[in-house]
Amino acid sequence: MPKVFIKTYGCQMNERDSEQVAQMLIRRGYSMTADENEADVVLLNTCSVRDMAEQKAIGKMGNLIHRKRGQKAVLGFLGCMAQSRGPELAKMMNVDLVVGTQKFHKVADYVDDLLARKRAEAEAEEALFMDDVRFSIVDIEEEAGSQETIRDHTLKPGQKTAFVSIMQGCNMHCTFCIVPYTRGPERSRSIPEIVREVEELVARGVKEVTLLGQIVNLYGRHEFPKVDGKGPFVQLLEAVHAVEGLERLRFTSPHPIGYKSDLIEAFRYLPKLVEHVHLPLQSGSDRILKRMHRTYSSRKYLELVERIRAVRPEMAITTDIIVGFPGETEEDFQATCGLVREVGFDNAFIFKYSQRKDTPAAAMDGQVPEEEKERRHQELLALVNEIAREKMEALVGSHVEILCEGPSKTNPERLTGRTRGNKIVIFEGSDRHVGQVFDVKVTRSSGFSMYGDPAILDA
Ligand code: SAH
Ligand code: F3S
Repeated sequence: MPKVFIKTYGCQMNERDSEQVAQMLIRRGYSMTADENEADVVLLNTCSVRDMAEQKAIGKMGNLIHRKRGQKAVLGFLGCMAQSRGPELAKMMNVDLVVGTQKFHKVADYVDDLLARKRAEAEAEEALFMDDVRFSIVDIEEEAGSQETIRDHTLKPGQKTAFVSIMQGCNMHCTFCIVPYTRGPERSRSIPEIVREVEELVARGVKEVTLLGQIVNLYGRHEFPKVDGKGPFVQLLEAVHAVEGLERLRFTSPHPIGYKSDLIEAFRYLPKLVEHVHLPLQSGSDRILKRMHRTYSSRKYLELVERIRAVRPEMAITTDIIVGFPGETEEDFQATCGLVREVGFDNAFIFKYSQRKDTPAAAMDGQVPEEEKERRHQELLALVNEIAREKMEALVGSHVEILCEGPSKTNPERLTGRTRGNKIVIFEGSDRHVGQVFDVKVTRSSGFSMYGDPAILDA
């Protein structure tokens, strides 16, 4: 039984794709290992969003090639970097396999072939293979219907949360972003297919589902009509919400322009939709937003926040921000800081702008020096952390609902769970809490996590 090690870089969609690949390999009799040293097959599922993510995967593969060359292991790149760099990557790294974002369902076939070939090589005379040139498979073709192929799950015992990919690709072409090139145009799965997948997950014990897409709240806009004034995404939310036994429903990653009135209203009448929205801001300066091709202004963004809070005042709001976009001045940056203060985000991911191949922003004038990006990154991070800390402290003393996911990573003696607002709560509990949804009283906060006590409520 050959052993497979998969390492995933990047977003939740990548994690989900890796899970699909793992599931298909397991069905063929492969087993998964967490130890790359004993693996017969090593696959790196890559991310291209920033250069750093690409460099990490390339560095890792370099190291693997060095250590595993003698072992006849199959080495491969999957996903976004595989898609955008394809044959060049196969040649540069001399790996066996390079599979793009529309061909995850072919990985098991390719791995079978490559392992068979290696076995034959091993049996043949060594002299024939002295030159150590690898035979590689590169598949980065587009495939109609590939969005339907990410649908199988490998659940761990007791796993209560799952990701469901509902669409692939993005047509927005924000000027900094490589995703439309690596993931292709928007393609959505059908509502009945997605509902069937959620029903199956719930039947296997899952209580919380996160719907995934690169631009998730514009789901179905090219494929499906509005019904009763409701867009396809809201129709999908209603259908998934109706699955009996499902307790919590999340979605990521959305675009601000996808929060139309029907979606905001849905938060009023769909109680399983949690009190958390991710609202990628990118910049608080209108001039920069325009250069980014983000199609909203800072004022529109603030209005959106107000409309959402009017429906659910306790809504946790998180965001993504890029600092050091080409042409960003100190004034633009301060406009971003101002907006961050005004909204009061529960949390924010802050990224230093990274030039990506073939994207319009990469060729723009006014590229910001690295040290300046770093300075802005630090300054904004400090601000974001300060606000996040205040938001957590405001919850101390209150009761929050959590879904307990099991032992805490930092302290296995304790249990951990997430609130509906996606905040982590650590507490002392017992086996009976694991996998359950219940209230805890928040007793204190460290600024990064909250600590709670379920016992107070049990009593
Ligand atoms: N909707 C997508 C967003 C893609 S990338 C998704 O989450 O699936 C996630 C975040 O990375 C973006 O919101 C943006 O803030 C950041 N990002 C994208 N391209 C970037 C670049 N070239 N440099 C720095 N950050 C970038
Ligand atoms: Fe990227 Fe903008 Fe789409 S950030 S994924 S092009 S919405």
